[in-house]
Amino acid sequence: MTDFEKLGMTALRRLDPETAHRLAIKALVKGWAPTVKPYEDELLETEVFGLRFCNPVGVAAGFDKNAEAPLAMLASGFGFVEIGAVTPRPQPGNPRPRLFRLTEDRAAINRFGFNNDGVEAVAARLRALPGRRGFIWANLGANKDSEDRAADYVTVMQGLWGLVEAMTINVSSPNTERLRDLQGRAALDALLARCIEARDALTEETLRQTPLLLKISPDLSEAELADIAEVCLERGIDGIVATNTTLSRDGLASRHAGEAGGLSGAPLFQRSTAVLRQMRRLTGGAIPLVGVGGISSAEDAYAKIRAGASLVQLYTAMIYEGPSLGPRIAEGLAALLRRDGCYQFEMAVGADNPV
Ligand SMILES: Cc1cc2nc3c(=O)[nH]c(=O)nc-3n(C[C@H](O)[C@H](O)[C@H](O)COP(=O)(O)O)c2cc1C
Repeated sequence: MTDFEKLGMTALRRLDPETAHRLAIKALVKGWAPTVKPYEDELLETEVFGLRFCNPVGVAAGFDKNAEAPLAMLASGFGFVEIGAVTPRPQPGNPRPRLFRLTEDRAAINRFGFNNDGVEAVAARLRALPGRRGFIWANLGANKDSEDRAADYVTVMQGLWGLVEAMTINVSSPNTERLRDLQGRAALDALLARCIEARDALTEETLRQTPLLLKISPDLSEAELADIAEVCLERGIDGIVATNTTLSRDGLASRHAGEAGGLSGAPLFQRSTAVLRQMRRLTGGAIPLVGVGGISSAEDAYAKIRAGASLVQLYTAMIYEGPSLGPRIAEGLAALLRRDGCYQFEMAVGADNPV
């Protein structure tokens, strides 16, 4: 971290976490944030879903819910940024406070509940962006009061089609009642049938392909994961993001540990990596995986990659380390790949978890 970034992070940590986050986004939009030098290295280039990533380290969903600062995050050295969750209609989310720092645990608990400006506003913002270096993905959500959640995902997909390079169906947020039920076999099959049908219709109509991914929870049993893997393979989902936040509260020391919501950050690392590992085995490596949950160092990112992740994402560690963590992880990752004799990034993917 530069001295300027350290100063900024110290000042932000004195504020309520949601206010600090708003300010950080504002600083990024206005160009006030400390300039971070991207780390560029051919060894980190990789092709996934037919897209050529300049590096495999991305910003996880929820950081930039309304697509206010995706270019700033790309410019600071992330290979891709997932905006959202975006729902069809704007909604305020849950009452504040709804984001808590668990500093001793290097973690966070949030119960935002998909607060966002709605698909029209987000689409307008994306449409107005100048050219980009790197990819923008969108996290698709459903409105809290929706009677047909599958229709919501399809509406957001249609609204953002052509404006982003990939989309993630988020059925794993713990902060929208009964959303996670969509991960059950029958419900997921019905949901994916509709989403894939919509994806294929849009592809045909626009002659443009946009990969559709599914983001899953870390709180699933082996049997539930097996069902999800089977449905994803049968329906032709393009990728799986493992994982979202957890409801588990094991081994926490911070005073906010009892808050309701999803836990992210360091305590999530082991569980989310175990789910990723299982998913690779259950899908036989046939579907690209995105590893997210508790990454705060190059070693963490590398462990996810060796467990089977083709790409990685992070959010919570940035609350503590600032946005320069992205390029720092990218640089460390390149060093680890070289140390282990990998002359192509793909050689490391799943190296510890052969299928
Ligand atoms: C404040 C906050 C908001 C989030 N919002 C979303 C969201 O809207 N959609 C989603 O799929 N994941 C969301 N997440 C989950 C992250 O994308 C990620 O899966 C999770 O935090 C684990 O990664 P991390 O430990 O690096 O933070 C959110 C996480 C945090 C901390």
